Amino acid sequence: MKRVLITGGAGFVGLHLAKRLAAQDGYEVYIVDNFFRSQDDAELATLKALPNVAVREADLTRKETWDDMSGFDQVYHLVGINGTRLFYEIPHEVLRIGVSTILHGLEWFRTKNKTPNAKIIYTSSNEAYGDALKAFGQLPLPTPESVPLVVADPYNPRSSYSAQKLIGELFFIHYAKAYNFRMSIVRPHNFYGPRAGYEHVIPEVVGRVSAKVEPFPIFGADDTRSFCYIDDAVEAIQAVMESSATDSGTYHIGTTEETVISDLVQNIFVLMGWKPQTLDIKNSPEGSVKRRLADVSKIKKDTGWEAKTPLEDGLKKTIEWYLKNPKPAGK
Ligand SMILES: NC(=O)c1ccc[n+]([C@@H]2O[C@H](COP(=O)([O-])OP(=O)(O)OC[C@H]3O[C@@H](n4cnc5c(N)ncnc54)[C@H](O)[C@@H]3O)[C@@H](O)[C@H]2O)c1
Repeated sequence: MKRVLITGGAGFVGLHLAKRLAAQDGYEVYIVDNFFRSQDDAELATLKALPNVAVREADLTRKETWDDMSGFDQVYHLVGINGTRLFYEIPHEVLRIGVSTILHGLEWFRTKNKTPNAKIIYTSSNEAYGDALKAFGQLPLPTPESVPLVVADPYNPRSSYSAQKLIGELFFIHYAKAYNFRMSIVRPHNFYGPRAGYEHVIPEVVGRVSAKVEPFPIFGADDTRSFCYIDDAVEAIQAVMESSATDSGTYHIGTTEETVISDLVQNIFVLMGWKPQTLDIKNSPEGSVKRRLADVSKIKKDTGWEAKTPLEDGLKKTIEWYLKNPKPAGK
């Protein structure tokens, strides 16, 4: 039996990962979350009811939370403050929570976890290198793991998120080297799916289609993104965890399919069976990130993983979930 700890495990990625592991033989899953951003909802209740899953409500910025845990074979360190609005509203908290959970987590892992051959994964972000485009005017596309990590403007509150991911990567790399333990870093690229919150392009468009908004705004219509369905994403994170070839390495997780935002929106119109009379096209301003596409050849080479879910299939499942779970009023 493998004992697995998922920090921030009640969130979007954590819950899907926990579901996946709990459904496989030989895993005991322990989630720690303080519900800062996630909900103790019906989906978590279903998961908690499984005999091999436990959920603890606790604040991982407190050292004491870590002190009474031990004996995990695998640790997925997902905790952090996600959500662009929060980067602008509480940048100091994004930094404090990001960095303090990393420090406590790494100190705990090396001194108190006490499981031979245990491995820890850190979820960084494509934002850790996002500013390289601003700083140097270009980024290779598809973008490999080796591009420079850059904080272009420390006075921009948005940098709070990329900076704590950047420093987090350095902490994980150098702690693992100094104390000789197993770790990998993953950088998620545009994961989407059910229960991802309401501040992403897909739930926003689904909400506007449900409300039959006219004229229908499309923001960043000419931008491209590569959308990775959450089932593929958590399969990739697990593949990195299970492989020893990935130890001490950094891995981009995403798809090779580049989608223009206006095409994504048209796709959602078709799947939801409604089309507005008039579109209000808002292309993104010159200088914003027009294209984002990860080079995912390294994870394929080392684990064999590649994304399988066609965008249309993932969109269908996501739309279905958001129609059943519309944005609560006032959120
Ligand atoms: N979803 C993506 O596409 C994406 C992209 C890039 C990076 N990431 C990274 O992956 C990780 C998981 O992302 P997600 O989308 O599931 O985010 P999420 O916000 O849904 O999950 C993070 C969880 O951490 C919890 N948390 C926050 N502060 C805490 C604290 N002090 N103690 C205990 N729990 C706390 C939140 O309540 C939340 O449930 C994050 O580190 C995020 O930065 C995700």
